Amino acid sequence: MLSPNIERALNEQMKLEAESSQFYLAMAGWAENKGYNGTADFMYRHSDEERTHMLKLMKYINERGGKAIVPALPKPATDFKELREVFDTLLSHEEMVTQKINDLVFICLDERDYTTHNFVQWYVSEQIEEEALARTIIDKLNLIGTDKSGMYLFDRDIISINATSAAAPDAAK
Ligand code: FEO
Repeated sequence: MLSPNIERALNEQMKLEAESSQFYLAMAGWAENKGYNGTADFMYRHSDEERTHMLKLMKYINERGGKAIVPALPKPATDFKELREVFDTLLSHEEMVTQKINDLVFICLDERDYTTHNFVQWYVSEQIEEEALARTIIDKLNLIGTDKSGMYLFDRDIISINATSAAAPDAAK
């Protein structure tokens, strides 16, 4: 059985994952309208992944005797100046999510809920990969600068960039 405090914290995290899915969906739409089809595919996929993160929480809350609440979501940003801004926004968002996961770990330990602590470890690892991926992409965009043909190649190649190759070797374990 979940404590009310843990149940609340897990529901907040569920909302955050749902918001992430919406954010990346809006980014996919922006990229598609600008003709960045590779980036759009990447964002659509990322949006789907965030939805699975949300569902995993929803099922866990309900399985442990809590009540998962499907949240209302704010309207995500839909306008960006350039690709760099899109990925900067993504990285800041993921850094905030990591902080929230860390808070969740703290609450689990504080309440001696080792089962939920164990469950949350999956999210701890996921955040390492997601942040590493975002930083790898931003490094590439920094190298390209404002070069248009570089941007074309970036958009073509982004599909082959994945979380596993972006994560540092020992960070991914
Ligand atoms: Fe599921 Fe990107 O945090």
